[in-house]
Amino acid sequence: MLITGATSGIGRASAVAFAREGAKVGFCGRREQLGRQVEREIRQAGGEATYIKADVRDARQVKTFVDRVAQKYGGLHVAMNNAGVQHLKPLHDMDVEDWDDTQATNTRGVFLCIKHEAPYIRDSGGGVILVTGSANEFATRPMIGAYAASKGGVTGLVRAAAIEYGAAPWNIRVVALSPGTTNTPMVDAWRPVLAPDANDEEWEALKAGPQAGIDGLKRMAQPTEMATAALALASSDMSFLTGTSVLIDGGMLAGL
Ligand SMILES: NC(=O)c1ccc[n+]([C@@H]2O[C@H](COP(=O)([O-])OP(=O)(O)OC[C@H]3O[C@@H](n4cnc5c(N)ncnc54)[C@H](OP(=O)(O)O)[C@@H]3O)[C@@H](O)[C@H]2O)c1
Repeated sequence: MLITGATSGIGRASAVAFAREGAKVGFCGRREQLGRQVEREIRQAGGEATYIKADVRDARQVKTFVDRVAQKYGGLHVAMNNAGVQHLKPLHDMDVEDWDDTQATNTRGVFLCIKHEAPYIRDSGGGVILVTGSANEFATRPMIGAYAASKGGVTGLVRAAAIEYGAAPWNIRVVALSPGTTNTPMVDAWRPVLAPDANDEEWEALKAGPQAGIDGLKRMAQPTEMATAALALASSDMSFLTGTSVLIDGGMLAGL
């Protein structure tokens, strides 16, 4: 299987979880040192993983990454297009470069991945493409307009790919795993905005408790909880699930 953006957060937890289930995991990210660390961690636990440095904004690097994973592991059955970025600014203050970076990573990057993954999955007899969407596909908040737009694009891409690749000869299910707020470095980037004066302990308490802004469970998800969801969505038990976004948000969007 293949995961983009597994040097950190949800992708990293998913690489570990899929490898624990026996998957051979080829993954990317731009930070080589972290990539090697995740690769080592998985191998030391008896799993199989290969880190390949790749930037999903670069069409050539995406093709090379997908080719190398499929060649190394003799085909491709499951892909998780997870790499993402978030720039925090209201729209009138958003730099055009940050807008473009968000769309190039979160939406165009997913398109590039699907483009190169789908033929390999077809030739391997079918499988699953997961995309890490977001609760921001459904609703959003100030400061992340570029991000919300990019994840709305993911919603469309997932549906388009599902109807193009669902039937034979492709036999590919395409599903968005759409997390609510999850405790990763992406969330820590909010600290100067939400709690500029908090010390480390206060910030951790804020994230862990009712202040996390999750109406239902009143806490953030842990990355391992998203990894568990990814395993479930990719499972062949979910054989009729495709073309939709599965919101895993702890009840975040349930409140008024
Ligand atoms: N945390 C949340 O609350 C939350 C909620 C909903 C959805 N999500 C989504 O979950 C996904 C994972 O985010 P996370 O929360 O786990 O954040 P994270 O810890 O910051 O991880 C982001 C991952 O994406 C990779 N990445 C970013 N740009 C890349 C690029 N151009 N090429 C290749 N890899 C790239 C990063 O690796 P490098 O920096 O090494 O390249 C890193 O591995 C994202 O799509 C995000 O939008 C997160």
